[in-house]
Amino acid sequence: MPAISFGRATVHAITAAAAMTLASAGSLFASGFTAEQAEAGKTAYMSHCAQCHGAQLEGPEAPGLFGQDVMGNWDTAGGLYDFISVAMPPAAPGQLGEDVYLQIVAHIMAENGATAGDAALELAAAADLSLVEATKEGAAAKEAERLAAGGGEAVEVIAVPQAYTWGKELPQYNK
Ligand code: HEC
Repeated sequence: MPAISFGRATVHAITAAAAMTLASAGSLFASGFTAEQAEAGKTAYMSHCAQCHGAQLEGPEAPGLFGQDVMGNWDTAGGLYDFISVAMPPAAPGQLGEDVYLQIVAHIMAENGATAGDAALELAAAADLSLVEATKEGAAAKEAERLAAGGGEAVEVIAVPQAYTWGKELPQYNK
């Protein structure tokens, strides 16, 4: 799939360039969602996702949802939205509605170190919002928080190769 890889690499380069330009103009770029969205997203995540993905997004019943590798896998907030809004939760995929899925994306971003801002996360803009760019500054601090909360033990993130899920329907959960 060289064409697709090229496309995504190009998007990365453009996003990185835009981030640099905007970073010198101020640090608003790093947000992309409001604190209210992340807060509502936490509530929704706790009811619909945490039983498998963990209260701290650590798994272990399902892949962990934090870390720069995970952010890189999903590329943009829109990519993450696209997946969860059609595939999660497995028992009722796509049933939570656009607002709630966006709130959950905001929560996942916040848990990965992104800072809330004044502008709400909207679907139209989500495809241009790089998860790595939005989270990388705060990622280390979040990691330290997790270490402290876990009594100094690193939480192991359960990784699933992205190629396994990307764009595909999920397998049955009968294990
Ligand atoms: C019943 C358990 C369960 C619930 C509830 C659930 N998930 Fe999942 N989720 C899974 C499993 C299992 C996988 C791995 C499936 C696969 O890779 O094919 C997964 C995969 C994912 C992935 C892809 C992870 C990766 O990097 O490959 C994301 C993102 C995700 N879930 C988000 C959510 C969100 C958001 C919710 C709540 C709206 C949710 N899930 C609810 C079990 C669950």
